[in-house]
Amino acid sequence: MNVKGVALAGVLAAMGGLAAAEAQAQGKLTLYCSVQEEWCQLMVNEFQKKTGIQVAMTRKSSGETYAQIKAEAANPKGDVWWGGTGDPHLQAAEEELTMPYESPLLKELHPWAAAQHGIAGGRTVGIYLGALGYGYNTETLAKKNLPAPKCWADLAKPEYKGEVQVANPNASGTAYTFIATLVQLWGEDKAFAYLKQLNGNVNQYTKSGAAPAQAAGRGETLIGIAFLHDVITPAIKGLPVAAVPPCEGTGFEIGSMSIIDGARNLENAKKWYDWALSAEAQALGAQAASYQNPSHRAAPIPAQAPKMDQIKLIDYDFKKFGSSDERKRLLARWDAEIKVLGN
Ligand code: F6P
Repeated sequence: MNVKGVALAGVLAAMGGLAAAEAQAQGKLTLYCSVQEEWCQLMVNEFQKKTGIQVAMTRKSSGETYAQIKAEAANPKGDVWWGGTGDPHLQAAEEELTMPYESPLLKELHPWAAAQHGIAGGRTVGIYLGALGYGYNTETLAKKNLPAPKCWADLAKPEYKGEVQVANPNASGTAYTFIATLVQLWGEDKAFAYLKQLNGNVNQYTKSGAAPAQAAGRGETLIGIAFLHDVITPAIKGLPVAAVPPCEGTGFEIGSMSIIDGARNLENAKKWYDWALSAEAQALGAQAASYQNPSHRAAPIPAQAPKMDQIKLIDYDFKKFGSSDERKRLLARWDAEIKVLGN
């Protein structure tokens, strides 16, 4: 290397050092993410680019993330919990595992998203909306010469023995939404009698709520219970899966975000929170093949997103089913009456 080369190398090294120093100055953020990996990654990359803040991200299902935050409460390791169904976020709020925050963007959100913030004493906020349903593999259905299911009740019929997949409600917010939906549709005893009967048709209880929809797309199960946007994702990728909003009506989620109490990087947590509520950040979902309805009023609703006003939605009682007592009690009943049956 000549003198010029050495000098240039020195300048470049100094620049690299500066970039590293700048990243360090901007600091870090530990993010717990409960949506699909692709969307988590895209959000992290865009936030890092925009702010220089380094994000360490872990993706886990909603119930699992709630359990992790609870286990770490004496020594919190995470800063923000972004995504996942609202019920466990509400439970975390009630148990003061998360902290109140009033984002300046609150007033720009749809009323349902701000209402979530209100119920939780400011400890969580709505970031998207999604309706529950199921998907079935159209090719398998034709091959097996089975009727297309239309209702929740259909899934427990003997002709679908071994053909249904759903997540475990302890790990998955989707599966907890499923139980809470049935309880609100039919009352608790009828809902559990149905779950017992359905258990005979279940081939696997997965950890992740979206996994059964993906498995239905690949033909590994005929039917997968999931949020309808999670059925649309494999359908748009060209897999033979049809989405069904059940005939009896269905429940929905207010996907949520919370700042973890005791966050070590609180200022950066607030930066993430404000950015994640913006229309610009919420438009990233569709780019990552996630088709929820966003909570910012100016964020575009993806053309592929389920049309919420065309689905028969129940008046889901988030206050009740997101309360600590109710969620614990229903999960314990599921363990005692359904899990024990095996499948
Ligand atoms: O990202 C897909 C999604 O269905 C979200 O809409 C939802 O909040 C989350 O996954 C639920 O995942 P799980 O059931 O695994 O907790």
